Amino acid sequence: MTQYLAIYDQATPEQQPKLVRTWLKNEPVPFMKQLRRERPIFPTANGTYLALYEDCIEALRQPAVMSVRLYKPKMGDFMLANDLTIANWRDKGIMQAMLNPNDIPRVRAMIGRQCDAALDAAEGRIEAVNRYARKVPIRMVDEYFGFPGPHDPGKPPNDDKMIEWSYANQLDAFRNYPFNDLDNPEQIFRNSRVALAEMRDWLTIYLPRKGASLQQNPGQDDVVARMLKTRFDPALGFDGAALALNVGGLLIGAVETTQQVVVQVIDQLLKRPVQFAAARRHALADEDAAFDPYVWEALRFAPISPFMFRYVEQDYTFAKGTARAHTVPAGTTVLPLTWSAMSDERYFPRPDEFNINRTGVDTFHLGYGHHDCLGRMVATVMVPEMVKRVLRRDSLSAEGAIDFQGTPYPQSWWLRFSAGG
Ligand code: HEM
Repeated sequence: MTQYLAIYDQATPEQQPKLVRTWLKNEPVPFMKQLRRERPIFPTANGTYLALYEDCIEALRQPAVMSVRLYKPKMGDFMLANDLTIANWRDKGIMQAMLNPNDIPRVRAMIGRQCDAALDAAEGRIEAVNRYARKVPIRMVDEYFGFPGPHDPGKPPNDDKMIEWSYANQLDAFRNYPFNDLDNPEQIFRNSRVALAEMRDWLTIYLPRKGASLQQNPGQDDVVARMLKTRFDPALGFDGAALALNVGGLLIGAVETTQQVVVQVIDQLLKRPVQFAAARRHALADEDAAFDPYVWEALRFAPISPFMFRYVEQDYTFAKGTARAHTVPAGTTVLPLTWSAMSDERYFPRPDEFNINRTGVDTFHLGYGHHDCLGRMVATVMVPEMVKRVLRRDSLSAEGAIDFQGTPYPQSWWLRFSAGG
């Protein structure tokens, strides 16, 4: 087995951060296993990595000490860039109420319909990233959230523009940090500003238009309609700008996350014929309760990122009273290796085994703690339904590996199938 830490210790300070990034990209599983055993709290020039489940929880459940300050230059007043403030508490509370959990069965049925429409149109061969995994959430953002892409009245909305806006912002806000070392970070930041400005321009046209149409037809029911129909006391400060900011967040939160999860889960299942066959049986029988655990367990083997990140606001000692206790000074970046946490042998026994019966333990797929995903309930049905509709097709196969085109996100992946549905 490669002795990663010995190699790391002998490398120069310039080489070290690059080595860690490369191993996390190319050999994450054995590297993280070694970290869990030998250096579970791993200080580097990129930040301090936390490899154990308990330490990841410790970081993510303390927003006053481990903050989301790093998101601030990218997201400003949006809830995810603010801890324990009105921008988080008020906005998240309002948006949770708008995303009524009673909608969820209807949302799942709607997603299923959109999935089959995309697959039927493809006639047996589909570029699954753009024509399926990005397309279906964009349709959901239009139909359920009530936020269509730019269009003239009576004309179809521009879904590709929505994909562009969401992508530019996801890439900058979640991946464009020194510890990821993307090429051309300034350009990525500029692209996100252009996308945000275009999206805001469209919302300044669309929201009043939608408000006027609600006067004509107050029976419309989608998330944006609910937001516009609700009267907020001015003392709350949830004004037009706050409303538009949160409508934009619905798009940006929903698309790249979902597409990456759906594509990587299908890939993981295709690589495991036994589990694939079992999952497919449940898919064909429409047994969602039995099917969905295959999806979330598959994601444990290929989550969207190996880590999350937080900024240390004050000196803090992790794992106090244990042999691994370690103090991180204020100003450090901590990188909870949530992928490693979901393979921590104490909480996920035999982590290399595919086991749909892991209970009593949290995963980190949809965040954890104060910034737990706002879209959790939607994602919890959207993702499995999108995977299920693909697995129901006959003779499913992939044409080669997922193509990331040098980016952190899947960009192209061709799937073939014969019929079914
Ligand atoms: C499979 C799909 C999704 C995945 C994998 C995902 C993942 C995540 C993760 C990991 C976080 C935490 C980020 C952090 O703490 O640094 C998060 C937060 C968030 N997600 Fe999602 N998400 C998904 C779908 C959605 C959808 C559909 C929406 C739209 C409603 C959404 C909106 C948000 C928002 C607004 C936050 C920030 C919440 C806060 O600051 O309290 N996400 N999501």
